[in-house]
Amino acid sequence: MTKTIILYVLAGCVLALLLRKLQMRLQLSRAKHRSLTGHSRMARRFASLVPFYEYDDAHFFRADAAPDAVAATRRAGFMRLAAVFAERFKKTAELTGEIAGSVSDLQFTSRYRVPFQFSGFVQRHFKAGVFLESSSGVMVTDLDGNRLYDLTGSYGVNVFGYDFYKECIEQGAQRVRGLGPVLGAYHPVTAYNARRLLQISGLDEISFHMSGTEAVMQAVRLARYHTGRTHLVRFCGAYHGWWGDVQPGVGNPLATRETYTLKDMDAAALRVLRNRRDIACVLVNPLQALHPNVSAPGDSTLIDSGRTAHFARAAYAAWLERLREVCSARGIVLIFDEVFVGFRLGLGGAQEYFGVRADMVTYGKTVAGGLPVGVLCGLGKFMRRFREDRPADICFARGTFNSHPYVMGAMHEFLQRLDTVPMRELYRDLDNVWNTRAQALNDRLAAAQLPVRVANLSSIWTIFYPSPSRYNWMFQYYLRAAGISLSWVGTGRLIFSLNYTDAEFAEVADRIVSAARAMQQDEWWWAEPQLTNKSIRRRVFKEMLQARWASTSPMGSMSSPRIK
Ligand SMILES: Cc1ncc(COP(=O)(O)O)c(C=O)c1O
Repeated sequence: MTKTIILYVLAGCVLALLLRKLQMRLQLSRAKHRSLTGHSRMARRFASLVPFYEYDDAHFFRADAAPDAVAATRRAGFMRLAAVFAERFKKTAELTGEIAGSVSDLQFTSRYRVPFQFSGFVQRHFKAGVFLESSSGVMVTDLDGNRLYDLTGSYGVNVFGYDFYKECIEQGAQRVRGLGPVLGAYHPVTAYNARRLLQISGLDEISFHMSGTEAVMQAVRLARYHTGRTHLVRFCGAYHGWWGDVQPGVGNPLATRETYTLKDMDAAALRVLRNRRDIACVLVNPLQALHPNVSAPGDSTLIDSGRTAHFARAAYAAWLERLREVCSARGIVLIFDEVFVGFRLGLGGAQEYFGVRADMVTYGKTVAGGLPVGVLCGLGKFMRRFREDRPADICFARGTFNSHPYVMGAMHEFLQRLDTVPMRELYRDLDNVWNTRAQALNDRLAAAQLPVRVANLSSIWTIFYPSPSRYNWMFQYYLRAAGISLSWVGTGRLIFSLNYTDAEFAEVADRIVSAARAMQQDEWWWAEPQLTNKSIRRRVFKEMLQARWASTSPMGSMSSPRIK
């Protein structure tokens, strides 16, 4: 009898445990975004199944089943633009061509500028090149002498204008020249940098690294060390550098086992944080406020017009507050990854801008005055790399070039300049300036009935396309022909430096409008009622199935080695 009771009790315990596990699993599933971006493993599996195929000459212009007359107009426009490129960017393109085959980065970025079905044809016709000769004000000059308005922002580094960084680098170098490249010991400017960054971040300790990726790695490693927990939480779509643990899914050959990717701005994510015991830290990239749950909007994924963006400051601030509460309650380390937005939104970064304090903050990009860097600031209790009571239990982190005197010199110049009155003035009305500019441009685009709009988080902008189309990615080439320089991700991310005057901005806005008008005249945005984002996606999916299972295709050339 007692034996039976014990067995029942045991079975009850096992059942309760299983039910609890199941509940946690369900909670986790509910906290994942329903897109592929929210399901890293599935995304990797899906990516491995996507076959290569590309449109031949005929299908390139009719991928949306446009009538022949429209295709002919597009072709004429495309060839005209290609001729402009060939003439205008000749020298720049020639040098690029010489090295294109042997520089991996270049091969990758030139292939992934547009959706892969169009990529080969585009690469053969548009040769613009990657070389630049000089920069000045808000412009860059290529090898052919073309002066282009810079909207690349050098991946976000360029907050104050290139001349500002040239000065930081030159004067910083002068300051540290006596010591030169001595590593291990610190140049005295490092003391100022440490003090100043701790003041700005409101945190206790600092470490210097060589890139934003490394600063993030160190933050997560320390969070794991101090909490004794394994998992990091990142939000769907957020970029935190290219280290494996923060980049699950497509792009990483390994599946990450200790990363939870949760829905951004969603109560289901908070439930997971409240209930799981294995979460060491939560990583927040405040840039996601512009497009929660969506990856950096590159033009290579512009299959249709599904890209959207909208920034709601109060809603995001409220979300961060809720995150703060749950992290504090559960002993989870809250990390703001401000590598991108730090010093762009406000002097005190995202913490100040959204009014929420983090346990750790990473900075990078702009903070070293134009030289490579990553910085981690944190509460003392999370930054310590050893335990007083267990001398062999350490959390290791080094890096040959950490605190390099030249980097510290340029950083010193950068931080000193932040303290000046004109700088504080610049920050004072920042949001208003950029929101007004974005609104004015949207009004113009709407008045001209052009299917292009912008959304912005301060000076970080994204272009989106309100009418269904397969050809939105072509806009980057019209913009380039209009004298605007974009990064390889194209129209998904325009980064303005804060030294753009009203007159310079007006010139850029004129060019954006005229580029859109030219693209519209060339009929890339031809539309018919049946053409919807859904119908476009269905069509592309069908093409993929055909390419995967058939050796010939109605679409044109099928040059995938996998298909042959
Ligand atoms: C938010 C964020 N974190 C980390 C990184 C990685 O920085 P880095 O490219 O310096 O390694 C980036 C780079 O874009 C970033 O935007």
